[in-house]
Amino acid sequence: MPRIHLLARPPRDIDLDPAAAPGATLLAAIDAAGLPLGRACGGEGVCRSCAVRVLDGHAHLDPPGELERRAHHRGLPQDQRLACQTQVAAEAPLSAVITLWHPSWGIDHPPP
Ligand code: FES
Repeated sequence: MPRIHLLARPPRDIDLDPAAAPGATLLAAIDAAGLPLGRACGGEGVCRSCAVRVLDGHAHLDPPGELERRAHHRGLPQDQRLACQTQVAAEAPLSAVITLWHPSWGIDHPPP
């Protein structure tokens, strides 16, 4: 099943199967891994505190919805996604790996 690789110290891997858990967000995987991530708006998609950088696997995520497009339009970098709004694509192959990074996870800078 698709794997969420969280670039943290220590690194964590969470398997998130969109077929088994429809609607599950990246935030659910991050929570399952026990890593911290802001959520000031409670997952409503308006505060950006849950934004994570997607280092690999963009193609295996659902495209940004209206709230994320609005956030990108207002300056959220294109390589970041709102974890509370983003789901693994239903058609993601079992071998898919999506790598995420956030500075609060113990690694100051992601690899170039
Ligand atoms: S928790 Fe506020 S945008 Fe995701």
